[in-house]
Amino acid sequence: MSLGTSKAVFQVLSRAVSQTGYNEPRVNSSDLSLHSRFGVKCMTKRLSRHRALIVCSSMLQSRLRTYQFQWMGVSLHDYNKTYSRPWLKTCKCQRAESASGITSGDGNVSRLLNDVETSNSASNVMGTKHILDFENVKDPQLKQEEVLSSNVTNGAIRDSFDTSIEEEAWDLLRESVVYYCGNPIGTIAAKDPTSSNILNYDQVFIRDFIPSGMAFLLKGEYDIVRNFILYTLQLQSWEKTMDCHSPGQGLMPASFKVRTVPLDGDDSATEEVLDPDFGEAAIGRVAPVDSGLWWIILLRAYGKCSGDRSVQERVDVQTGIKMILRLCLADGFDMFPTLLVTDGSCMIDRRMGIHGHPLEIQALFYSALLCAREMLTPEDGSADLIRALNNRLVALSFHIREYYWIDMKKLNEIYRYTTEEYSYDAVNKFNIYPDQISPWLVEWMPNKGGYLIGNLQPAHMDFRFFSLGNLWSVVNSLATVEQSHAILDLIEAKWSDLVAEMPFKICYPALDGQEWQIITGSDPKNTPWSYHNAGSWPTLLWQLTVACIKMKRTHIAAKAVEIAERRISRDRWPEYYDTKRSRLIGKQSRLYQTWSIAGYLVAKLLLADPSKANILITEEDSELVNALISANPRGKRGRKNLKQTYILSDTFKSMKQEVWSYNLMKEYVYKVKGSSSR
Ligand code: GLC
Repeated sequence: MSLGTSKAVFQVLSRAVSQTGYNEPRVNSSDLSLHSRFGVKCMTKRLSRHRALIVCSSMLQSRLRTYQFQWMGVSLHDYNKTYSRPWLKTCKCQRAESASGITSGDGNVSRLLNDVETSNSASNVMGTKHILDFENVKDPQLKQEEVLSSNVTNGAIRDSFDTSIEEEAWDLLRESVVYYCGNPIGTIAAKDPTSSNILNYDQVFIRDFIPSGMAFLLKGEYDIVRNFILYTLQLQSWEKTMDCHSPGQGLMPASFKVRTVPLDGDDSATEEVLDPDFGEAAIGRVAPVDSGLWWIILLRAYGKCSGDRSVQERVDVQTGIKMILRLCLADGFDMFPTLLVTDGSCMIDRRMGIHGHPLEIQALFYSALLCAREMLTPEDGSADLIRALNNRLVALSFHIREYYWIDMKKLNEIYRYTTEEYSYDAVNKFNIYPDQISPWLVEWMPNKGGYLIGNLQPAHMDFRFFSLGNLWSVVNSLATVEQSHAILDLIEAKWSDLVAEMPFKICYPALDGQEWQIITGSDPKNTPWSYHNAGSWPTLLWQLTVACIKMKRTHIAAKAVEIAERRISRDRWPEYYDTKRSRLIGKQSRLYQTWSIAGYLVAKLLLADPSKANILITEEDSELVNALISANPRGKRGRKNLKQTYILSDTFKSMKQEVWSYNLMKEYVYKVKGSSSR
């Protein structure tokens, strides 16, 4: 184990030791025998799959200190052969099958199967009506879609017409709850009785739980969210490797599973284990950068909604926040303030050409920085972190607002760009060749409206519209007020592309032909207008709703919800829809996908009481605005001036100012002032 790792481990251990008042994994030295028994089990797991388990045990009450030091002292080789977890907890659950909530033999599955069977006779009637509901389409491809759609409307209908869609959604959401030692700790990704290929959809995904958690918060059911926050925090601290390499400490898993395993030597008893996946088992081995960012956002929402600030104030939670921040704020080779990530590190977790600086990650990163700043308790030793956080907020906001923004005016500027500029004042800083403006963009860009592009790299702008990044930039004020309105203007103008028959396209347009072959690696799941490649994802309804509420344009979200209601329940809550106008249930879409259900519920709850959206919204950061307004550069513009002392010189010191120029700063201050007075 490297020194760095040992240090990080020590931090984690100290953090855990200082926890109070929560029934979390504990081991003491008197439990050594049990512990080593379990340790052997862990070792086997690690050797075979490079992963390990946390075991919940009511028998083990305090942490095993001696074990910690033993663990910290071993070599990497020994470490890989020995235990991987510094603390363990075992829960002897005599009837764990019924409590785990994820066993295949549960009543819900058979009830749903019954639903499918009993509703088949009624489905033809529904199908006919459904086709009649479609508006006339002229495009030949769309006509084909219409024909095809008649074959896919044979979905089960709800067993009772007098049950409202909302009630049905609540029932399904509750049935998706996963328990750990009797406590609710999350929701399963999908509970599809019609699918034999479960893959990892029987796990609790961090990102998928956010709308579930929000629905429970809005309903006043706080326990599940609190448990989720605290248990996933424990998973964060785990050592994880892929072929002997560990990602940075602070990474949150993409998902975890509660496994019920027989207790050795006792046939009548079982124990439950939490088994996380940090990407080391995930398809493509992608590390989920978004998990930790969402975790921070949920933590703040929990505090604001429940009024219980004690969770965010806990030492271990504070350390957890800092670990995520340190991982994100660590210096690298970057010239940009945006986070550099691999393809598939967020909701789009397969190769889709979004490696680099994808908007979704930047928007979540910005939110996480703002939320963390609100929650961090001041203490000695965190001043540097807070300074780095503030610096990054300013730089990130400037960078995204300035360089990711596109509308008709900007498009025209890019179209006429001069290239190969070598200077500090270059207009075309990233050396974008106008030829990369695709014909679809020129056609598509409305006169009124604009959006943040998907990605920006040297000599490369990804002009695709990515919904989550844009919506979340409205929610957290990463986009200016003017830009936020323009994004909603664009959504309205492009309704038939982005919403059509089911909200909401994950991105637009689809990659096609050779581009699809090269960029996705000929991925058969991401064919044009399917899945991540411009498929439609009902879960995005909740983010759309929060964005609309923030901008006081709730009618847009209400319209989208109404469209979803026409078929989402009848179609059995699919994960995603395919085709240009989202007419078909996705080719490989799961049914009863929990975040489709929860996303709908959150949208409904928020539309019923828009003030509740405040737990997710972050307003224009007045400190950031003031920082820029009070920046008072003296003398002439140009690189030399950047070396002068500004009123807020501390804030700007480490911002890699070479990429900034005074004129842009001035322009930015003007824009910020202008937009906030709108
Ligand atoms: C798919 C989605 C991902 C989601 C997961 C579980 O992999 O791409 O965003 O978290 O399914 O629903």
